[in-house]
Amino acid sequence: MCGIFAYTGNKGKDAGGILLDGLLSLEYRGYDSAGIFTPESGSIKTPGAVAELRKKVPKEFAGKSGIAHLRWATHGEPTEKNAHPHSSGDGEIWVVHNGIIENFKELKHGLEKKGHVFLSDSDTEILPHLVEEHLKHTKDFEKAALAALNELRGTYGIAMQYKGEPDKLIAARMGSPIVLGLGNGEHFIASDPSPILPHTKQVVFLEDGDVAVITPEGHGIKKLDSSNVSRATTEIDWNAEEAQKGGHEHFMLKEMMEMPEVVENTLRGRLIADKGLAKLGGLEEVAKQLEGIERIIIVACGTAYYAGLVGEYMLEEHAGIPVEVELGSEFRYRSPVLNQRTAVLAISQSGETIDTLEAVREGKRKGALTLGIVNTVGSTIARETDAGVYNHAGPEIGVASTKAFVSQLVVLALLAIFLGRQRGMSEKQGKEIAKELKALPKKIQSILDKHTSVEALAKKYVGSRDFLFIGRKYNMPIAYEGALKLKELSYIHAEGCGAGEMKHGPIAMIDEVFPTFAIASADAVYEKMLSNIHEIRARKGPVVALATEGADTRVEELVQDVIYVPKTIEMLAPILNAVPLHLFAYYFSREKGYNPDRPRNLAKSVTVE
Ligand code: G6P
Repeated sequence: MCGIFAYTGNKGKDAGGILLDGLLSLEYRGYDSAGIFTPESGSIKTPGAVAELRKKVPKEFAGKSGIAHLRWATHGEPTEKNAHPHSSGDGEIWVVHNGIIENFKELKHGLEKKGHVFLSDSDTEILPHLVEEHLKHTKDFEKAALAALNELRGTYGIAMQYKGEPDKLIAARMGSPIVLGLGNGEHFIASDPSPILPHTKQVVFLEDGDVAVITPEGHGIKKLDSSNVSRATTEIDWNAEEAQKGGHEHFMLKEMMEMPEVVENTLRGRLIADKGLAKLGGLEEVAKQLEGIERIIIVACGTAYYAGLVGEYMLEEHAGIPVEVELGSEFRYRSPVLNQRTAVLAISQSGETIDTLEAVREGKRKGALTLGIVNTVGSTIARETDAGVYNHAGPEIGVASTKAFVSQLVVLALLAIFLGRQRGMSEKQGKEIAKELKALPKKIQSILDKHTSVEALAKKYVGSRDFLFIGRKYNMPIAYEGALKLKELSYIHAEGCGAGEMKHGPIAMIDEVFPTFAIASADAVYEKMLSNIHEIRARKGPVVALATEGADTRVEELVQDVIYVPKTIEMLAPILNAVPLHLFAYYFSREKGYNPDRPRNLAKSVTVE
């Protein structure tokens, strides 16, 4: 998820200033590198965010038009060379891009054969080269851009510029949002309306497959097949902050609403569904070594630790590898027994959590293979591990991890297929998991669509001072996660426990004002969960149940409230069950008048011990 901003106008010569100001309001979308281009002044790029770029851009960075970008790396490290804009070999075409071009390796290979030389590791760089190639034949920027876009597979939000026609900018959208700003004598392209709003409130949201041309005077939109299309103009009455949150009240809600897209991004290009295989490019180099691994130790903190606990069930059941899960903060102070046949797998959204990082270092010192499931490309854990898998979840701003958690579970499921197929998982089983993984985005969407009923539930229970969360097997860690989210955002006592452990302590707390959230998916331990719910009800404890749509209805008769989630296979149920629990914690906190994005005393990334 990167930030794009582009401008063309006939009002003066300060495109540089306009672009830099605009990038600032897009910083929440990415901040590992930044870059700007105007035909008059050329391009400047830098690792870091807008402040770094500002330092490098001279006061006189003139231009009547230009394109700019903030990067959240997906391909290639966050270095100056990989920062956008990228240009064609002749320096005539300049492109900024948000998304992932899946077939970039094939396209790059074809272009190299024609003599094109590439300067970066970025998938984006192939696009200006492709346009350059088409321009040789068509001699028409718009036609060349359309032809090049038709060759791409993957997702993109794009702005591009040709030095030969500096007033004209081309935008395109496939899966990554693009909005046009329609001003008076000036037009804009951006990833969201926030950088446009100081200039105009009139915007046009592009749809997938749209290619737009803007000039200072106007705009036109075509489909990829070059037929004309018109899109409605919308008047935006959000302020800039609301625009960053996509019109949602908080980043946390926006990030939860992004979950279907995040799961798609996490899976993109990684499933060979018809063969029941997972393709994890970041593990290719160590694939042979992984075949000989006898034990995996997952290290993580907070919500990522709970993802690790689910991963333990997935990997043991489906890959047959013994797995232990350790808190980073404990692992590093123990004397873990490791050897070359042990893999230490760190899970971290930020890639900077100090305890997880130190656990990786301890693993390295003791000769283990170190792996990462990390969201932030180029972060310390990503750099220091031997190999790994990126989440592609985009930046997460809400302090409490939501979309990254879901993405971590998806990567763990991919890893279970990857390692499982190395160790005797049948093709049939691989195919079944792959099929269910592909169905997740729609199922998550259907849960999100019912967010108002979760909101109503949060309102009903908002007076509670305590909450118990119970679950079994795959859903025990989800009970922990539900409790963590509620306590950290609402400052009430919430406790997660394995339902079987309830009788060893927690049930003593239950009375008529102490509610329980019971995760009662229709799985191998469903009957046991029903018994646990009976035990709570016998002590007059109110129960909210998470149950499986279209399955057994006995749970409904037992409890006060039920949230139904769609059916999936047992190992993936935690992914669906996390969604209503995150929504519940969000609405509960909001109902209590707190800011769920910034829970007190907590930080997004804990880089001190
Ligand atoms: C903080 C955040 C959590 C996160 C944890 C681990 O406590 O609030 O949401 O799960 O750190 O962070 P990491 O970046 O390593 O996943």
